[in-house]
Amino acid sequence: MKVLIVGSGGREHAIAWKCAKSKKVDTVFVAPGNPGMEDVAQPIQLQNIEELIRFVKDEGIQLTIIGPEQPLAEGMVDEFMKEDIVVIGPSKLAAEIEGSKVFAKNFMKKYHIPTAEFKVFDEIVPALNYILGKEFPLVLKADGLAAGKGVFICNNYTEAETILNQTMHYGLFGDAGSRVVIEECLQGEEVSLFAFTDGKHFVSTILSQDHKQLLDGDKGPNTGGMGAYAPARFTKDLKKQVDEEIIAPTLKGMHKEGRTFRGILYAGVMLTEKGPQVLEFNCRLGDPETQVILPLLDNDLIDVCEAILNERIDEVVLKWKNKSAVNVVIASSGYPGTYEKGYPIKGLDKVSDGTLIFFAGVKKEKDTLLTNGGRVLSLTALGNDLQDAQKQVYKEVEKVSFTNSYYRTDIAQKGIHRL
Ligand code: AMP
Ligand code: GLY
Repeated sequence: MKVLIVGSGGREHAIAWKCAKSKKVDTVFVAPGNPGMEDVAQPIQLQNIEELIRFVKDEGIQLTIIGPEQPLAEGMVDEFMKEDIVVIGPSKLAAEIEGSKVFAKNFMKKYHIPTAEFKVFDEIVPALNYILGKEFPLVLKADGLAAGKGVFICNNYTEAETILNQTMHYGLFGDAGSRVVIEECLQGEEVSLFAFTDGKHFVSTILSQDHKQLLDGDKGPNTGGMGAYAPARFTKDLKKQVDEEIIAPTLKGMHKEGRTFRGILYAGVMLTEKGPQVLEFNCRLGDPETQVILPLLDNDLIDVCEAILNERIDEVVLKWKNKSAVNVVIASSGYPGTYEKGYPIKGLDKVSDGTLIFFAGVKKEKDTLLTNGGRVLSLTALGNDLQDAQKQVYKEVEKVSFTNSYYRTDIAQKGIHRL
């Protein structure tokens, strides 16, 4: 079969790589993809929904998987389904669980899904009054999608006032910031879990851990993710607890709300003293967690997708390699702020077979891959345990270089310490 992946980052490269391994798949297309993905997929330069629909029909694509949140929140799945196109991802109504923090928080409150205490504001003066008497830190969140940049942990009133002014008064995130959620700051470690769901039933992955901050020791500004590892081992029953207390009631509640969620639900969870609490829901696979989850998954991803589509996901048993995976992102210095682009990426031919390279911000000129984004590429290595995988991946990361490259040197360290 022919498969189309929508998106262009490292997550989409990993999805394309996993699909290309399936015996059922002849060709993988990525739209728009990037030239680093050409090892497993054919990038096609189509952006808007009409062009994609035409391409899927003309090319006879039998399955489309949508990677990023933006097209899901904009209703790409609804448009595809109107045309009888087979697609993995939630409808626009269901994607609101990520697209609107206000919706997600009110939904969690209604269905008793554990999450931080919160209040919603659509005017700045009441918001400022509210924080006046509050203890800090407090978390401020823009309601809409803000490319991962809309969440602020404020340590005092002045910081919070500045953020409220920027978002609600000066429109830093446009409409996405005209409403804000102000919530209690949760303490603990974060963990990610993905649930493949047909709307009624689900199977969930092993736990993974992202490293959102730019600098070693989880310091510095938040990024899209500087690396990840899996499995993340905490208490024995944690996954079961997240499945039962978070995923199951969420899917049930979404169905009841007339927003049946089909596709992949991502729960970002804080492990607090009071138990796991939801930090955020996403309506898709995570980046860079996908780059460690899919290499450990033994099932054919197409089988899992078909089970979602045929509403028999409850019959699927996910099988995992008895290994650990660590992914390290190599970024352009300056990211998540401003950075330079256009530098040749060297040493890719020296990376050992068995280490996976997932490209994100790259372009090609005369057969050379050049940097073209903040997060340029990432490497995933598997090992017998976390320590082994970490050692392997950093050995390979050192071989890859470009002007002003930057990576964290402690990805997975948190997990190794915990063992
Ligand atoms: P979100 O986009 O809602 O996941 O927020 C991005 C990041 O901000 C999360 O991964 C956490 O690191 C942090 N964060 C969000 N909400 C809270 C909270 N209530 N308490 C502490 N940290 C939070
Ligand atoms: N890893 C965080 C995200 O995908 O949103």
